[in-house]
Amino acid sequence: MHALDKWIKENSSNRKKLAKTLNISAASLSRYLTGDRIPKQSIMQKIITVTEGNVNPSNFYTIKRINIINTNKYKQKHLLGIEGLEPTEITSLLDRADDIIKENRIEPLINHKYKGRTLVNLFFEDSTRTKTSFELAANRLGMDVINMQIETSSIRKGESLLDTAMTLNAMKPDILVIRHSLSGTPHLLANKINCAVINAGDGLHEHPTQALLDALAIRRRKNKIQGLTVAICGDIAHSRVARSNIKLLITMGAKVKVIAPTTLMPQGLDKYGAKIFTNMKEGLKDADIVMILRLQHERMQGSYIPSAKEYFKFYGLDRNKLSFAKKNALVMHPGPINRGVEIDSELADDINRTLILEQVELGVAIRMSVIEHLINNLDNKKYDIKNEK
Ligand code: CP
Repeated sequence: MHALDKWIKENSSNRKKLAKTLNISAASLSRYLTGDRIPKQSIMQKIITVTEGNVNPSNFYTIKRINIINTNKYKQKHLLGIEGLEPTEITSLLDRADDIIKENRIEPLINHKYKGRTLVNLFFEDSTRTKTSFELAANRLGMDVINMQIETSSIRKGESLLDTAMTLNAMKPDILVIRHSLSGTPHLLANKINCAVINAGDGLHEHPTQALLDALAIRRRKNKIQGLTVAICGDIAHSRVARSNIKLLITMGAKVKVIAPTTLMPQGLDKYGAKIFTNMKEGLKDADIVMILRLQHERMQGSYIPSAKEYFKFYGLDRNKLSFAKKNALVMHPGPINRGVEIDSELADDINRTLILEQVELGVAIRMSVIEHLINNLDNKKYDIKNEK
């Protein structure tokens, strides 16, 4: 029980009466007590006075540490993709990340509960956001982190990926985070090693933690996912982010519209329930969220667009095209951004319309949540054995 609720009970009062004494609304008082808002200094001073010092910053700014064992609804040993996850599993990961954000804003502590546990980052493709946020997430959980330097590893001497993975596995890490240009690599490793595997992006296939952090950003700004219309625009053909997002958003009850030139639109997205558009005006109509994707030149073999200039003219998001969406539509981008190619540079920097940096911030909390769920499942052998191949 929060110290202030305890004081209310001991003094035969109630929240409504106390809120009146403090000259604030009962709703504001509730938000302070859940940790969603922090009271101004003047209100904290009143709380100290009214409670004669019994409630003060030392016992006010604490929140209940959630016991993940009780709240963990995630049933898998690994996080290999969004495919096959149930809404309750996704919600469990998002809810815990939301709590972590609140905890971090009130009291950013290193959680020593995971001391002695190890996470290995094995990135065969470049990364700024995903790799560093996994490292930061694991550090904040008190874990040891090994960032494998591929360019100085025995892979350069010809050691195979599987032999490298088995070697790392022999050192008994708890979590292996892998990014690889070949789709299915995390699944291959998950079949061979004992630790939990997290897919940090495999070829054109999936990038599940990106979709989870995007969902968290949407849910925090729009208070829901179900019933929203999300337009995903850009190089859908080469995007693992698009695939994971389409699956997650549809699983959680959103309507998804995908917009791309025919050369960048893969076949079969309609089987997931996404609606296909080649025209921005039609595709952006009624969108609550506009998710813009980068042209992934590193995965293209041949020419898919006439020129970057031509692409921007028809598919680059600027304020004019954004006006086709709902008036309060928010813009997202997983990064890295190609300014002036898929998004106008000035619009990309408008923090009132874009969530780009917020997405990065939420990435740490999502990855902490995923790590906690997986370690909890490893410790409790809670994952569904039938799902193991
Ligand atoms: N969004 C994303 O995956 O970024 P990085 O390539 O920098 O990890």
